[in-house]
Amino acid sequence: MIGEWLDIGPVSQISPGNARTLPVQGGEEIAIFHTLAGAFYALVNKCPHKAGPLSQGIVHGNVVTCPLHSWNISLKTGEALGDDSGCVPTIPLRVDAGRIYLLREAVVGQQAA
Ligand code: FES
Repeated sequence: MIGEWLDIGPVSQISPGNARTLPVQGGEEIAIFHTLAGAFYALVNKCPHKAGPLSQGIVHGNVVTCPLHSWNISLKTGEALGDDSGCVPTIPLRVDAGRIYLLREAVVGQQAA
């Protein structure tokens, strides 16, 4: 079965360099990032270190710096960079005609996590 995409609204809801969160009923909150270069990424909103809210971190390049202890997390892979190790799940995301879509299965999959 080809995955179904969930429309979560217009790209304009997140200004460049910022993030918003998407609550998932019964599951982990998702953070959606808009980079200064115009790319969008979605990750579970939990730092792999001590679960800091990545959506409140600083976005630079394709990286977010966690607001709690400044780990750098790749927005592309969810992996901690540099000397730190750990990984947070990423959610497949696509942008089409000015709207953001998340892969429904991946969002639903978070509910079992
Ligand atoms: S919780 Fe993110 S760096 Fe510690």
